[in-house]
Amino acid sequence: MTTDDASGLTDEFLAAREEELAGRVSPRRLEHIRGVAATAARLARAYGVDERKAYAAGLLHDWDKGYDDEGIRQRARDLGLEERLGPWLVEHMPQVLHAYTAAEALGRAFPEIPADVLRAIDRHTVAAEDMGPLDMVLYVADALEPGRRFGRIDELRAAEGEVGLEELFFLTYEYWVYLLLERRRLMHPDTIRIWNTYVARRASRKGSDRDRS
Ligand SMILES: [Fe+2]
Ligand SMILES: [Fe+2]
Repeated sequence: MTTDDASGLTDEFLAAREEELAGRVSPRRLEHIRGVAATAARLARAYGVDERKAYAAGLLHDWDKGYDDEGIRQRARDLGLEERLGPWLVEHMPQVLHAYTAAEALGRAFPEIPADVLRAIDRHTVAAEDMGPLDMVLYVADALEPGRRFGRIDELRAAEGEVGLEELFFLTYEYWVYLLLERRRLMHPDTIRIWNTYVARRASRKGSDRDRS
């Protein structure tokens, strides 16, 4: 059974998961996770998204980040995800798999986690063409949490609250695509499709802004 209801995300539930995380990931990763949870809650407040769901998504998004490459490949196979993800992705992009395995494993273990929280976790590495507000909040929070330092982060941080959530997501996504190119990393086959979708939506958004003014 799946739910969209956040009432199962009690303080006790979240505190217990946080305690378990300490045994699953490194102290440094746990700091990142706490930063993402706090940032996601702040973004949720600013953009009218359910704050408790955003906090939970932030807290749980890197649930499987403690595995090494071979470990996460095996976990994806064990969870039966290879068919959905395709063998190419499992073999060549182990760095993105923790999102899919976390959503699947958490959904099985904890039915009280709402379906939209699991979806946001599932999409936090590669994103998707139809990102919802909660998905965008987690994606942006993962990049903007206080421990992150990278070239344009100040520009992105300054945009928080100044631009709409979709624009903030677009700016964050743009930066990650740029980084993949700069670092000559593999790109997920969906990345170009997602990019094109948001470029087109942005162009029509700007067009309708112009029409109104
Ligand atoms: Fe992650
Ligand atoms: Fe993360």
